[in-house]
Amino acid sequence: MKLFIDSGNLKDIETLVPLGIIDGITTNPSLLAKEGGDYKAILKKICQIVQGPTSAEVVATDAEGMIREGRDLAAIDEHIVVKVPFTKDGVKACKALTQEGKRVNVTLIFSATQAWLAAKAGAAYVSPFVGRLDDIANSGMTVVREIVDIFDNSEYATEVLVASVRHPIHIIEAGRMGADVVTCPAAVIEQAFKHPLTDIGLERFIKDWEKAQAARV
Ligand code: E4P
Repeated sequence: MKLFIDSGNLKDIETLVPLGIIDGITTNPSLLAKEGGDYKAILKKICQIVQGPTSAEVVATDAEGMIREGRDLAAIDEHIVVKVPFTKDGVKACKALTQEGKRVNVTLIFSATQAWLAAKAGAAYVSPFVGRLDDIANSGMTVVREIVDIFDNSEYATEVLVASVRHPIHIIEAGRMGADVVTCPAAVIEQAFKHPLTDIGLERFIKDWEKAQAARV
């Protein structure tokens, strides 16, 4: 399973990419709105750092506008994946952009039928939002399982990109279900690294070693 960072923050990206575990980035208008400066310059910089798929979302709501913005975003860098919302216009724009050879991530997916329709329109990725489904007492991961099952039974090249991840359990479940990608905020990646027994164990190894070295003198 690939790991993307769900962030438009250059500091987060510059900190995590050198670890060698990051395959791509997802941004959205809310994330980029938090960053100062020119969003196109930020997206370019992100692409240069990660050298992998970087989702950049359109803000138009009509198909023509989405296609126009999608072309504009795709021109920023070869790594840009155009992100469109799952609406009828979004599906139409996905089909048109895909036919031009652009990769499209269809976002705001909350059901398996939406994911299937986006796949039929040629989406490179579908992004089910698991955290936002959990927030309204629906199981986000159940929707992911349904999507993975449907895609396993068909010929679509579409990748399942689990989004709106809130904690490491979402990562574990996504991996066990066979999702292709999980996109996580930097804080969740941080949590995935952490285990108190690792810290305690390391401290003990070092202390024991130092004690033995001191006894030899
Ligand atoms: C994914 O591409 C979205 O940017 C993101 O995961 C949304 O997450 P949120 O529900 O935490 O805003």
